[in-house]
Amino acid sequence: MCGIIGYIGEIHATDGGVTGEAADDDTPGSVGEIVHRGLKNLEYRGYDSAGVALVGAASGLTVAKRSGEVGALSVPDVPDATLGVGHTRWSTHGPPTDANAHPHTDCVGDVAVVHNGIVENYEALKRELSDHEFTSETDTEVIPHLIEEELTGVDGDGDADLLAAVRRVEDRLEGSYAICAVREGDDRIVVARRGSPLVLGRGEDAAFVASDVTAFLEHTRDVTYLEDGDVAALSPDGVEIFASGEPVERETETVTWEADAAEKGGYEHYMRKEIHEQPESLRQTLAGRLDVDGGDVDLDVSFPPGFLADLEEIRIVACGTSYYAGRYAAQLFEELAGVRATVEIASEYEFGAGRTPDRTLVVAVTQSGETADTLGAVRRANAAGARTFAVTNTLGSTVTREVDGTAFIRAGPEIGVAATKTFASQVATLAMLAVAVGRDRGALAAADARSVLEDLQGLPGAVQQVLDEEKQVREAAREYRDSEAFFFVGRALGVPVALEGALKLKEISYDHAEGFAAGELKHGPLALVTPDTPVLAVLTDGARADETMNNVTEAQTRGAPALGCVSAGEEFGTLDVSFEVPDVGVVEPLVANVYLQLFAYHVANEKGRSIDKPRNLAKSVTVE
Ligand code: F6R
Repeated sequence: MCGIIGYIGEIHATDGGVTGEAADDDTPGSVGEIVHRGLKNLEYRGYDSAGVALVGAASGLTVAKRSGEVGALSVPDVPDATLGVGHTRWSTHGPPTDANAHPHTDCVGDVAVVHNGIVENYEALKRELSDHEFTSETDTEVIPHLIEEELTGVDGDGDADLLAAVRRVEDRLEGSYAICAVREGDDRIVVARRGSPLVLGRGEDAAFVASDVTAFLEHTRDVTYLEDGDVAALSPDGVEIFASGEPVERETETVTWEADAAEKGGYEHYMRKEIHEQPESLRQTLAGRLDVDGGDVDLDVSFPPGFLADLEEIRIVACGTSYYAGRYAAQLFEELAGVRATVEIASEYEFGAGRTPDRTLVVAVTQSGETADTLGAVRRANAAGARTFAVTNTLGSTVTREVDGTAFIRAGPEIGVAATKTFASQVATLAMLAVAVGRDRGALAAADARSVLEDLQGLPGAVQQVLDEEKQVREAAREYRDSEAFFFVGRALGVPVALEGALKLKEISYDHAEGFAAGELKHGPLALVTPDTPVLAVLTDGARADETMNNVTEAQTRGAPALGCVSAGEEFGTLDVSFEVPDVGVVEPLVANVYLQLFAYHVANEKGRSIDKPRNLAKSVTVE
């Protein structure tokens, strides 16, 4: 997830809109400053590197970029600039270096592009562009070079202008993206969107384009959301939008949020925003990695020859939510990769007797890559001579420097202390790893792999369907908010989801919540059940729904209300509340988890809790 912004027009801002009139001291005085301020507002989308490209009639194209946060970027003074684009990066392809920072340019430095998303076929395109000079390791850099081909006729017919060139290049890109392109000597910003967000801001004599309205809300509240497949040109004469090559009108609406809410994209809390970002973050997690037809995945990780075939055990080490992601994954490793998989709380992990280091893979799951307990476990595994691997969200984090290999979950920055979108992306990444290991070991047939990959492909859409049902969850949260305690149950893949659901609720609402393997209820916890202790159950595919429902009924018999996440097409008539989970097979429990995230959020919100910064907790726990 990266942040992009573009601005064209008169340069001075006044309260309520951009105009050509004199600005007060607090308002930006140049195109570069407007773009730079927009980037600061977008920094929540990434902060690995930042850059701008400014275009002026006399000065031509000026590009400045560097690794580090937006504040570290010094924007050049280009007094005649009338348009500019900017980018703040969350690295996916290539480490956060100056060279990998956006904007990227063509060979001669005439065209500059900023991009959010992933160009899945960039390696193939790069091979086709072998006579071009590439200066970065990014997927993005193919775009300015492809535009160059169209503009100079090397590959295209050479009569394209910037708008036509972007349209043609767009046809060649696979994946999800939002791009802004500018060119020396051209007074337009040309933008295109497919799968990644892009919104236009309409000011007086000025226009903006950005990943999120937050970027330009201090200048204008009139916005137009572009749709997938739209290409638009922002020029001094206004904005033109095209779909399938034909001009189209898109509605302009007025944003009513206040500045504080704007930072959170209009949501009251980062946590709710991040819950709602899951379709986009999951798309990024999966982008370019699924070969559904071939029944394989490309995670860009490698193991020594024969290592996976001889593997005796995968040991996952993690804490908190990441530990529950590990528990989900362990079941997938056993089922899909045919290898024994165990999960340990990182602070409890020791290599242990009776194991063979060179036939063990220790997988550390950590969003931050900085959790001291998890790093401690990795160090103990390394000391024992085991091969170590990390699944993390954070490029350049400590864990990535201490393990033998890493897979990035690409969820984008998570600001709410309670992990939400990163849990989903961790499980999705680990599921892909399980398929890769299973295929490599010959334990997973192509047809079975295909079916799992189809489930994963359906994940972002299924999560969106759950998010569309938020009202139902809010009503349930209102009804049960004052309960004495909450119990979460499931079986199989439903167990880690029940545990995660309980953790989410307890950490942000401060209510007593516990997760259990449903079969365990009757071995003790049932003594706690009363009419004032709702039971929330995972009743989906992959979670042995019928057996779980038997245990739910045992609780209902003691008067407990029951809420269930139920696979579409199934019905458990005695439930007090039934949340429908779309049909996505092995990841259905993961989709059910989105209901539990929303439930936790709304219970906590009803109680006015400090949702993004719960008491006594920190986002990254760097002490043992
Ligand atoms: C709970 C939560 C924590 C973290 C845990 C591990 O919502 O966020 O339980 O999951 O502290 O953190 P990472 O994944 O950064 O190692």
